[in-house]
Amino acid sequence: MVLPSKHTPRSPAYLLPCVLALSLFSLTGLLLYKVDDVVSRTGTVVGHNLEPTPWHVFPHKPFDEETRQQRAYKILQCSYLTCRYAAGESGEERRKFPGGGGECPDFFGAIRRDLEPWMESRITKGHVAGAQRLAAFRVVIVDGKMFVDWYYACVQSRAMFTLWGLLQLLKRYPGKVPDVDMMFDCMDKPTVNRVEYQGMPVPLFRYCTTKEHFDIPFPDWSFWGWAEINIRPWSEEFPDIKRGSQAVSWRNKIPRAYWKGNPDVSSPIRVELLNCNHSRKWGAQIMRQDWDEAAKAGFKESRLSDQCNHRYKIYAEGYAWSVSLKYILSCDSVALLIAPQYEDFFSRGLVPEHNFWPVDPLKLCPSIKYAVEWGNQHLEEAEAIGKRGQEFMESLTIDRIYEYMFHLISEYSKLQDFKPTPPPTSLEVCEESLLCYADDKQRAFLRKSSASHAPTPPCNLKPL
Ligand SMILES: *[C@@H]1O[C@H](CO)[C@@H](O)[C@H](O)[C@H]1NC(C)=O
Repeated sequence: MVLPSKHTPRSPAYLLPCVLALSLFSLTGLLLYKVDDVVSRTGTVVGHNLEPTPWHVFPHKPFDEETRQQRAYKILQCSYLTCRYAAGESGEERRKFPGGGGECPDFFGAIRRDLEPWMESRITKGHVAGAQRLAAFRVVIVDGKMFVDWYYACVQSRAMFTLWGLLQLLKRYPGKVPDVDMMFDCMDKPTVNRVEYQGMPVPLFRYCTTKEHFDIPFPDWSFWGWAEINIRPWSEEFPDIKRGSQAVSWRNKIPRAYWKGNPDVSSPIRVELLNCNHSRKWGAQIMRQDWDEAAKAGFKESRLSDQCNHRYKIYAEGYAWSVSLKYILSCDSVALLIAPQYEDFFSRGLVPEHNFWPVDPLKLCPSIKYAVEWGNQHLEEAEAIGKRGQEFMESLTIDRIYEYMFHLISEYSKLQDFKPTPPPTSLEVCEESLLCYADDKQRAFLRKSSASHAPTPPCNLKPL
């Protein structure tokens, strides 16, 4: 009896599995290496593999994942696998609206002024490419799907909440948001200077602008929530501030001007404000907000709804634009605005002596004193200014904000002279992929600010 195997120990039957195993092993190795390479080049909404914006550096965020493998798995899962599976559900739902929408508020007129620099030239691919070196990310919407190309990380969760707002807009007006290609920066100082860029204005969206800049204002992240300092979505925060403001009637509020904030943000006006801290002499109370202390106490002491106890509230810009304006106006106190240089999308709707009181920065303390004395002598008129400020913010509902975004994006898209396509390096961002990266608190805020179909069409933008 002869067993062939004994005589041929090096038979192909023996060799083949070895070769197979070896090649499988190296293929897996190669694949893992490739995956690792892709993962380490993938920018994410929470800032993986991205540097902070060089024009405003901030500390790198810590990530929750403990190991390299965990991080790789998370990025693969959230950025590459989530939207594919979630697709279909959102789809191409088009809705017919019954009847027409009303007129948009006057401040929507600023949309056309903001886009005026491109009325003649239109927006070319060159314009968008020119804005890239000033941008943290690029958003391309095609057929109702959103693609994002990352250049830099955004501070805290600004990118996450801004993109969430855009996704909600797509849900609010399904099939109606046109294809667009937009560059965004998420820091507080406009950068497209009108003098420097007069030959070639570049379109860059951010949360504010000034008269000297081409930057296009866009609703800021905090309308959907600011998880880090416990400010909830606007649709919850405003009613709560309003309720808080009614705890004491206007006449029974402390008859002085109040400011609480951080004076150490290289803002000359805030430093000067410290000099006005004298109740009898200037009628003002200036308080230092200690963010570290507040954070330790879970921000319980700094609930915005408990901060409407004075008849007058001062707004002073910080290092640049500040999100606090909307919260100050939301109190029924008279808002004393120290000549703001920065504008956001809604502040163009404010009218001096109608819904706020202007303060002269060159005569800061006397100007505050004058406002307080005038108001205390004209109670009815002062109270009415405070109320109109609050009403202005009340009329700025989250639905209004979607209408603003809708018109801004639609007008912008009409100016594009090209058909937007997602850049090869971009990835789709959908609700599920954002939620995938969100921590528990962020996820709670995101869920709370989820939008649904608009029951009526957006308001009508007044013709030029
Ligand atoms: C302003 O004055 C009040 C009362 O005198 C004081 O408690 C507060 O610390 C002062 N604010 C600042 C920023 O120094």
